[in-house]
Amino acid sequence: MIIKIGILTISDRSSRKEREDLSGPALQKIANDQGWHVERLAVIPDELEEIKNTLIHWCDEAKLHLILTTGGTGFAPRDITPEATLQVIQKIAPGIAEAMRSESLKKTPHAMLSRSVAGIRGNSLIINLPGSPKAAVENLQVILPVMPHAIELIGGLPEAEKGHQIK
Ligand code: MTE
Repeated sequence: MIIKIGILTISDRSSRKEREDLSGPALQKIANDQGWHVERLAVIPDELEEIKNTLIHWCDEAKLHLILTTGGTGFAPRDITPEATLQVIQKIAPGIAEAMRSESLKKTPHAMLSRSVAGIRGNSLIINLPGSPKAAVENLQVILPVMPHAIELIGGLPEAEKGHQIK
């Protein structure tokens, strides 16, 4: 199965080109290494409606299997990525965010400052990652092993059952 993904960088400064987006390309490299097809890449500001509209479009029209957001998960006044995500998902997937925070806490106590969430809209899984390239990559590495099975299950594929036997 071809996994179609989108990478959405959410940053006021990167969207104004005041800071180079290094997180999107870092995530793209990992996605390519996994053999995933990166079908959407965008950099947008920390604006609630713009984030929601992009996520809805990528789920409902582009029908991506997986959407990785990076940025806007912290405590700063403009950080609203989790709120936008919660407003568009239909099911919450708390285990994904729990796993990322718990593994990240082994590296830095700052991990508890990421409010990231994950959830499902239609056949798409949306996962918030923190904004710095290092943090985004470290968090993605934690959940990589379960992604193919998660996506198969969301799609209701019969072969998804096989994944239950793999540890
Ligand atoms: N997780 C890992 N694995 N490594 C990190 O360096 N940085 C943290 C945290 N999660 C970090 C991490 C920091 S400093 C912050 S403020 C939060 O993610 C939120 O980041 P964001 O506001 O850029 O989304």
